[in-house]
Amino acid sequence: MADKTSNQMWGGRFAAGPDAIMEAINASIWFDKRMAAQDIAGSKAHAAMLAATGIITDSDAAAMAKGLDSVLAEIDAGEFAFSAELEDIHMNVEARLKEVIGEPAGRLHTGRSRNDQVATDFKLWVRDQLDATEGALIALMRALLAQAGAGADWVMPGFTHLQVAQPVTWGHHMMAYVEMFARDLSRVRDARTRMNECPLGAAALAGTSFPIDRDMTAQALGFDRPSANSLDAVSDRDFALDFLGAASICAMHLSRMAEELVIWSSAQFRFVALSDRFSTGSSIMPQKKNPDAAELIRAKIGRIFGANVALMMVMKGLPLAYSKDMQEDKEQVFDAADNLMLALAAMEGMVRDMSANKDVLEAAAATGFSTATDLADWLVRVLNMPFREAHHVTGSLVALAEKKGCDLPDLALTDMQGVHSDISRDVFDVLGVHNSVASRVSYGGTAPVNVRAQVARWQEILE
Ligand code: ARG
Repeated sequence: MADKTSNQMWGGRFAAGPDAIMEAINASIWFDKRMAAQDIAGSKAHAAMLAATGIITDSDAAAMAKGLDSVLAEIDAGEFAFSAELEDIHMNVEARLKEVIGEPAGRLHTGRSRNDQVATDFKLWVRDQLDATEGALIALMRALLAQAGAGADWVMPGFTHLQVAQPVTWGHHMMAYVEMFARDLSRVRDARTRMNECPLGAAALAGTSFPIDRDMTAQALGFDRPSANSLDAVSDRDFALDFLGAASICAMHLSRMAEELVIWSSAQFRFVALSDRFSTGSSIMPQKKNPDAAELIRAKIGRIFGANVALMMVMKGLPLAYSKDMQEDKEQVFDAADNLMLALAAMEGMVRDMSANKDVLEAAAATGFSTATDLADWLVRVLNMPFREAHHVTGSLVALAEKKGCDLPDLALTDMQGVHSDISRDVFDVLGVHNSVASRVSYGGTAPVNVRAQVARWQEILE
């Protein structure tokens, strides 16, 4: 069918075919074939609209619909012969449609351009990905909720600067991540709402003189409305950047959690045991069980944020409307999407399978004078001391304990009274880690009663 000396899609204007290097730099088929299903859905909606508005005949539209279904079946079966000469998925599909149904295929491109076609296909693809991300985030949140519910009252050290700060509960720590991933979820949902306008019918850049019905195609493809400006419709990729932005922040959260799992699963911490299913061994050291999944999740932010930066750089400085630069949008987004899904699924699996070492956590919670703030608060509450003075007195008691090589609850009452004579035996009540966490009932605080309420709240929201 194709005359090799010219171009099979626009041979009219061209006397010679492209140089091999031109074809190599220009063709996007090897990656944009991932949008085949979206491209065919868009073409079917366009064909049905062309018939409904009387621009083509019903019988041509019927032939197109049937032919497009058979082309998709060939692609799904792996029987489609993709061609770099035909540049991209749009022209590969249209050329094959011509082979399958003949002349009517030539009428499919009436009132549209590859510019609105690619914007539509890519939006449909990103929209599917946002939906998949939403599902994966919810699954991860459920795994965290299960951990939080089981360990709502297990005590562990809370850290600042990775130095022991105050005791917190395991459930509270897990629920901190639930809050983070919930905001990621809301960013994903925001992006979906904002992007859901249909570019199809913007044509090359200026709209078309054919009496098309853009509401009809928008509705058929699940969009809320057609986009209102044809130049904008074909020339922005901010919807992909919204996705990459949300994906980057989510990957950052995943990376922080992964880092904690790496630290916590080390022999020095032993806060958690990761399951064999999400660990690997060493080829030389028989004792090793490495947290590779967590390490890889920790690193994924690099390529996901890299994709975000790369697409920003592609788009900056582009004059309206379409420029071929924009073909560089897809590989970045595909790679980021694949890796985000992998990272979310791996994190969900690790969280679901991991077991916290309750006793190790509790013992660690009592180290590092973690209840010093409770002691200072007691001095304020019971002795009516100004907090700054209480801070100072407590500091002296910590220094004393450090000198004696013991923890705060191990100091003798007489030693304490040597620092401040009004201190009474009651003070020992606030020096235990369980009392400490139980006392932190301020809204958002770590007390087990708060954790249980938050777990119940999120379980209801995620129902
Ligand atoms: N393969 C192209 C892309 O991904 C499709 C749009 C081509 N449009 C054009 N005017 N050359 O951006």
